[in-house]
Amino acid sequence: MDLKETAEKLVRNHSLSEEEYLFLIENADEQTRNYLAEEACAVRDRVYGKRVFARGLIEIGNICKNDCLYCGIRRSNKTVERYRLKKDEILACAAEGYRLGFRTFVLQGGEDAYYSDAVLTEIIRELKKNYPDCAVTLSLGERSDESYEALREAGADRYLLRHETIDAIHYGKLHPAEMSHENRLRCLKTLKRLGFQTGCGFMVGSPYQTAEMLAREMKFIEEFRPEMCGIGPFIPHHETPFRDEKAGSVSLTCLLLSMIRLIHPHVLLPATTALGTMHPGGRELGIRSGANVVMPNLSPVSVRKQYELYDHKICTGEESAQCVTCLSERIRSTGCELAFSRGDFS
Ligand code: 5AD
Ligand code: FES
Repeated sequence: MDLKETAEKLVRNHSLSEEEYLFLIENADEQTRNYLAEEACAVRDRVYGKRVFARGLIEIGNICKNDCLYCGIRRSNKTVERYRLKKDEILACAAEGYRLGFRTFVLQGGEDAYYSDAVLTEIIRELKKNYPDCAVTLSLGERSDESYEALREAGADRYLLRHETIDAIHYGKLHPAEMSHENRLRCLKTLKRLGFQTGCGFMVGSPYQTAEMLAREMKFIEEFRPEMCGIGPFIPHHETPFRDEKAGSVSLTCLLLSMIRLIHPHVLLPATTALGTMHPGGRELGIRSGANVVMPNLSPVSVRKQYELYDHKICTGEESAQCVTCLSERIRSTGCELAFSRGDFS
């Protein structure tokens, strides 16, 4: 296979065979990566303009019944101080976010039975009543079909649920036995069926991940066509079984961002906080690779350090307003502009 030809084929057809994806993932040199990044940005600019959409992230709680081996807030981590935000605290974060210009709120948290359908639907309804011009995104893990339906009915617009890996055996090595890949994918299908703008995604460089798996991830994006796709490097957390594992690579994450943009031109693709944690200019590199979303933190500063999914997470000490100023300058440095509009999938 030829690098230049394969890269050009991806640009032209928005699709490659699994073997061709693998070839690019394993062999792309600097020149090919730059070419794919430039083409990815051109495609993104054609669809959305030079806008990078801001989503206000509210980390509503770090209590979680799950025990994912990579995650710093897994239930076995007894050293983390647990918190859950009450309705009024969540609404206060949103009010501050609205004042700063945000028109999307992302409620993210561990799988915590406290956040029942009754509790969540009340919060969603209140948010939609106070801010009818805003989108509400949820990122609260696996729930029943009926629960997702109730949340959608209450007015939630979008749902983020990373599948973490497309390989069922790999999934089993990242998660405890009581979790299943099958249920994860079932949730994603349900979310789409219910009309949520649905986000899937995976970590880059998680333990036991192979290049072949990443090639299959590309095929999955091609077929599932998520409205959103969150990918970021795996970063070890010192209180997890993966504490001594190697972190994922920034350059591989950027190559995959470009490929995903080229496969699915309309996808909303964040330059993640994990990417910014791995490299001081990581989010900018993500944007230059074709990403078009950033998710600054609106959580109360008092709890931010407690929502530590991985070590050395950035932005845990700054006020929301500081992150907005910081990010808008960073985005400008890439030639793009921070955009506060709802930024729906189009
Ligand atoms: N490194 C990188 N990303 C992580 N996530 C959880 N733990 C880590 C880690 N150690 C990601 C998962 C999850 C999202 C909320 O954060 O992909 O879906
Ligand atoms: Fe939070 Fe830069 S984005 S300080």
